[in-house]
Amino acid sequence: MRALVVARPGEPAALVERDAPVAGDGEVVLRTDWTSVNYKDAMAATGRQGILRSTPMTPGIDAAGTAPDGTEWVVTGAGLGERRDGGFAQAVAVERATAVRVPQAYGTRLAAAIGTAGVTAALSVLALERLGLPDGPVLVTGAGGGVGGFAIALLAARGREVHAATGRADELGRHLRDLGAAEVVDRRGAEPGRPLQPPQWAGVVDAAGGGPLVNAIAQTLPGGAVAACGLAAGADLPGSVLPFILRGVTLTGIYSVDLPAALRQAAWDLLVQHLPASTVESLVDREAGLEQVPALAQEVLAGRIRGRVLVAPGR
Ligand SMILES: NC(=O)c1ccc[n+]([C@@H]2O[C@H](COP(=O)([O-])OP(=O)(O)OC[C@H]3O[C@@H](n4cnc5c(N)ncnc54)[C@H](OP(=O)(O)O)[C@@H]3O)[C@@H](O)[C@H]2O)c1
Repeated sequence: MRALVVARPGEPAALVERDAPVAGDGEVVLRTDWTSVNYKDAMAATGRQGILRSTPMTPGIDAAGTAPDGTEWVVTGAGLGERRDGGFAQAVAVERATAVRVPQAYGTRLAAAIGTAGVTAALSVLALERLGLPDGPVLVTGAGGGVGGFAIALLAARGREVHAATGRADELGRHLRDLGAAEVVDRRGAEPGRPLQPPQWAGVVDAAGGGPLVNAIAQTLPGGAVAACGLAAGADLPGSVLPFILRGVTLTGIYSVDLPAALRQAAWDLLVQHLPASTVESLVDREAGLEQVPALAQEVLAGRIRGRVLVAPGR
């Protein structure tokens, strides 16, 4: 089969012919119909270290495909493209326990378009709702990316007033409003500001990390909550405890890789409940074959993608 493989640490992924995988205990081999280029995949495919735990390995943290019995499954995270060969291949072995039946509304193509980005957005919304938010708008950072796009659509569908923070307000304003954003705000001001800023957000879904995350925490209303799910702006947290101890703000972490089956299913159920296929489709920026992944990975890292990049390994 054809697959992208990172041969040695620090090397970019290259297209090779390799043996198709064999199912181990508790596993099934899927024909990979569709996968996607997540931020993590872009890092792995361009040779950045810290994603793949060993080499040689096929990157790709998502896969949506067909089992030998004709059933369709989607796997997000669960070690794909990190601890085990991932979705950038014509076939992939997955643990049955981590696979979710592809929702009828979507098919494998749109299930891959949702992928880790959509699941992460859904986990963020579930986490904020579990904490119980006060009234008020919810901020989504990294709005033009995959996680951001799905978060906007889900929060708006849940009846929230969503403010979308983006570095591409002129280019993406219309798209973000179509997804459900009530306001589109410029993401300028990445340096952390004062520890307590005028409170405005009942909740935050943050894909940025670093200064933008610290500022969002400092702007959260008393009793509000912030879901930290990304590091597009940085992995540091250069802030203050004052919002936590003077406003009762909660900071909650989102981890989409290893999930209890019930939580994984709850995330997909939320997506199916609120996102019609047309909304998912509106978040697809491009489609490509395996050979285009290395170039597309550079585009992802440069922040030039709007939403999601789909990959059809069979092309
Ligand atoms: N916790 C988890 O399990 C989990 C799961 C999935 C993803 N993630 C992380 O979440 C983040 C977003 O993932 P994604 O798939 O949505 O990536 P993506 O599609 O590449 O989107 C990232 C977005 O972040 C924004 N951004 C880029 N540089 C920024 C900066 N310096 N300051 C503020 N915003 C910046 C950009 O949006 P604008 O151009 O609109 O500003 C960009 O489109 C990544 O860091 C990823 O690793 C974590």
